[in-house]
Amino acid sequence: MSDTDTDSSTAFPASFPLSAWATLSQRSVLQEMLKTASRPGLISFALGLPAADLFPTKEFAASVAEVLARDPRALQYEPASRDLRAYVAALMGQRGVSCDERDVFVTTGSQQALCLLSKLLLDPGGDLILEETVYPGLRSVIEPLRPRIWTVPTSPRDGIDVDAIEALLKRGVRPSFLYLSAEAQNPMAGRIPADRRERLVRLGESHRFPVVEDDAYGFLTYEDSARPALRSFSDGWVIYVGTFSKILAPALRVGWVVAPPHVLEKLPTLKEAGDIDTVTLSQRAVCAFLASNPLETHIAVLRREYRRRRDVMMQALDAHLSSVATWSVPGAGIFVWLEFPPDFDAGRLLTLALARGVAFLPGQGFFMERERRNCLRLSFPNCSDEVIQEGVRRLALAVGDYRAHSELR
Ligand SMILES: Cc1ncc(COP(=O)(O)O)c(C=O)c1O
Repeated sequence: MSDTDTDSSTAFPASFPLSAWATLSQRSVLQEMLKTASRPGLISFALGLPAADLFPTKEFAASVAEVLARDPRALQYEPASRDLRAYVAALMGQRGVSCDERDVFVTTGSQQALCLLSKLLLDPGGDLILEETVYPGLRSVIEPLRPRIWTVPTSPRDGIDVDAIEALLKRGVRPSFLYLSAEAQNPMAGRIPADRRERLVRLGESHRFPVVEDDAYGFLTYEDSARPALRSFSDGWVIYVGTFSKILAPALRVGWVVAPPHVLEKLPTLKEAGDIDTVTLSQRAVCAFLASNPLETHIAVLRREYRRRRDVMMQALDAHLSSVATWSVPGAGIFVWLEFPPDFDAGRLLTLALARGVAFLPGQGFFMERERRNCLRLSFPNCSDEVIQEGVRRLALAVGDYRAHSELR
């Protein structure tokens, strides 16, 4: 979305109908916030942006220059880079997954992977199991297919409730797939404990439905050694979705899928219909970058620095908001999930917070059903210590305004 975007709906009167789902669809919370968060002077904890100050820009510039100088086909249409697929296959070892480059399909960010997989696995009106809060990008992908959605509780500490999945299956629900993040779920940051992961995968195997594992934040763990990806327990029933967006840079738009052969076979045709191929220059530049800059070193820097910024946010929250809200310390990922008393309205708080110069995402936009209005999501990586401290201070002032308004009513 560009800064020059105008609201085109007011420019021309509607002269022809759009499809039924498009007519019903609304701008996503993320789209709305992209516009708002660019306001000068506003401190934004709203979007899940990686730390721009840690992007390896100099090294990446050298990699781009190198691939362009070496071969003009860096600007050509091209099938996915074999080198990149081999690199990703090796990287998957860090998530406990053993695979080779034939198991890897390169996508334009993991968002495209979610889009392709939804089309591949879900018929219109089909059944789907999701966590009660869901990454909005998944929601926008499945909406046109109007699935029947079965939601399962999820928690900021332990992620999806595996017992609740089992209970649904006992009731006879047979989903086209189950979508979840086992590690640092967006928005709550929950992490499924290591000993429940295999049980969850076996539920998929025994009831014969695939688990789509979105591991966008799986490499960003802070507390212990990373817990194994769900894919490490089953090659046949778990489809893994990964991305360089959070461990290198999102503008590269390079993500991937690790999937069983009958899924991999269908993905190229579907992808061709969407964007023909993933930008060759991006793929080659990522390979050139990785050849001379070990990713492990960069990820170690991100883990150390993000963990520090997380702690700064925790201290600021403790100092300013502990009497009104609760939260868990995220052991991975880039989000903090705050819960206020049940009658609190985070949507109303946002209006007051914007007036104070700070933005966040109200939690209600993440709920698939039974919307709860008393929660919100903060993101901490893309802010300096001072900005985090000032932003939380402003948020506390907005909470004070909220209480004063409530008392006046
Ligand atoms: C959980 C999750 N999945 C997927 C994505 C899409 O990321 P990308 O398309 O940049 O790989 C995001 C982006 O924030 C995300 O939070």
